[in-house]
Amino acid sequence: MKSIELYAEKVAQLIQSFQLPPKPDALYGSIRYIFGLGGKRLRPVMVLMGADALGQVNHDAEIMALVVESFHNFSLMHDDIMDGADLRRGQDTVHKKWNTATAILGGDALLVKTYQLMDQLQGNCRDQLRGKYSKLALEVCEGQQMDMDFETMDTVSTQEYLEMIRLKTAVLMGAALEFGAMAAQGGEEACTALYHFGVHLGMAFQIKDDYLDCFGDASFGKQTGGDIVQNKKTYLYIKALELGAASELALWVGARSPAAKVAGVKAVFERIGAKREAERTMEQYYRGALQHLQGAGLGNEATEYMAAFAAQVWMRQV
Ligand code: IPE
Ligand code: IPE
Ligand code: MG
Ligand code: MG
Ligand code: MG
Repeated sequence: MKSIELYAEKVAQLIQSFQLPPKPDALYGSIRYIFGLGGKRLRPVMVLMGADALGQVNHDAEIMALVVESFHNFSLMHDDIMDGADLRRGQDTVHKKWNTATAILGGDALLVKTYQLMDQLQGNCRDQLRGKYSKLALEVCEGQQMDMDFETMDTVSTQEYLEMIRLKTAVLMGAALEFGAMAAQGGEEACTALYHFGVHLGMAFQIKDDYLDCFGDASFGKQTGGDIVQNKKTYLYIKALELGAASELALWVGARSPAAKVAGVKAVFERIGAKREAERTMEQYYRGALQHLQGAGLGNEATEYMAAFAAQVWMRQV
């Protein structure tokens, strides 16, 4: 393959071939719905790229591509309940379209499906992939719990925040590349370097997600300002506290009007320099990702398409 568009096409075919029973309607319909909303499908593309870089896109790489996108969609179904979000990929979230029970069960069923998919793995790293996947899935739960705990804490350190986003978001991106590389029987050093490339890119990605949640436009596909309304400890919030906006931000915590709160907090983020600080840190992680990529010792072609992918992720507005 070797072009991002071709990997994306392959991912679309794989998702098309993903079979689910017709009944119960809501259970499997909710899963079909979230897949049907599309999304960027970055993580399964990363699996295929990782495999291609170190060997070829084989059967196990295709399975792991489906596994990571299924896990991602499961996490979004539950995340939207936890975050009280009504909009996902520009459409109603599952719990809004059906109800909370369906979003919980649909998510649970999708998580179980990932294990059924992994029963089809054929290569000799099958057990290792399952083990790494379970570890990763628990890390994401840990990160999500930290994110929820932080909502009601007055202060969260930069260190704590960075650990939270590493767990909830970055490790999945690292693992996606690593799983692909492992499925293609890549050497341990290269698999690990790709993992770190993905984790660094994932850190930049989540800080950008916080940034777009605040400063993005309608094309973002999620309700902008949602993090502010939920009192999320985003990178912007933490930096604003550090830069001396604590008392100003405290005034907005219990504000009655969500629209006024969003406008007020956004203005603080800009004025105090938190927006600029977020831009600086994103760039640092992006550069760090590229360093790990260079250290992976891939051929020129693979290094180039990985770097092109990283640049796309970095420039994203959705
Ligand atoms: C959303 O991820 C969840 C986060 C980790 C921020 P994406 O922005 O990759 O979501 P989709 O799949 O493209 O909709
Ligand atoms: C989500 O973080 C991370 C996971 C779903 C594991 P967010 O809550 O910021 O993701 P979005 O913004 O809703 O996509
Ligand atoms: Mg969310
Ligand atoms: Mg969340
Ligand atoms: Mg977000």
